[in-house]
Amino acid sequence: MTAKKNLAVFCSGGGSNFKALRERILEKNLPCQIVMCLSNNSQCGAMRYARENGIDAVHLSSKVVPNESELTRRMLDELEKRKVDLILLAGYMKRVPKEVVQKYPKRILNIHPALLPKFGGEGMYGLNVHRAVLEAKEKESGATVHFVTENYDEGEIIVQEKVPVLPSDTPETLAARVLEVEHRIYADALEKTLARLG
Ligand code: GAR
Repeated sequence: MTAKKNLAVFCSGGGSNFKALRERILEKNLPCQIVMCLSNNSQCGAMRYARENGIDAVHLSSKVVPNESELTRRMLDELEKRKVDLILLAGYMKRVPKEVVQKYPKRILNIHPALLPKFGGEGMYGLNVHRAVLEAKEKESGATVHFVTENYDEGEIIVQEKVPVLPSDTPETLAARVLEVEHRIYADALEKTLARLG
């Protein structure tokens, strides 16, 4: 039997995608385990959820480690010492250092709350994305899971799903509709990636 893959989840916020991923892993007994949650915000919901569930919660940010190359080295150390195979960005609002991206080719996934390649790139995160979709008067939006490359939101798409944009939508109502889809397709993309890794 092949060994379970070790996963690291990177978060900055509430952690609902992190929770959905963990629930799918447990529910379907997937061949993987979440060995750490890394965040730039030690008090965010995702870090609380990690601590409550016995998952190592690793706080790393430029506030704790101001030197950029030292921060990258610490991040690589945390990943290496837990033999991490896959990194899942789940609402992580910081750029992943280039050295980390290069070390994990096609092994870093991200979820984006829009239909990439539309509405991606620098500054496009959280409610900003949904505001931009509404301003552009799009008829549909959605969620995308993709591999992370050195350029923001540009890597190969693994799963994408659409949702309608309603005339009455606010950024918040659209975000809630997209988030429901995110939870399902992120777990689907994880399953797909695990199957590919074998
Ligand atoms: C999610 O909607 C995710 O797609 C988005 O942040 C939210 C995190 O929610 N990520 C981005 O905008 C990345 N560009 P969560 O903490 O409840 O999973």
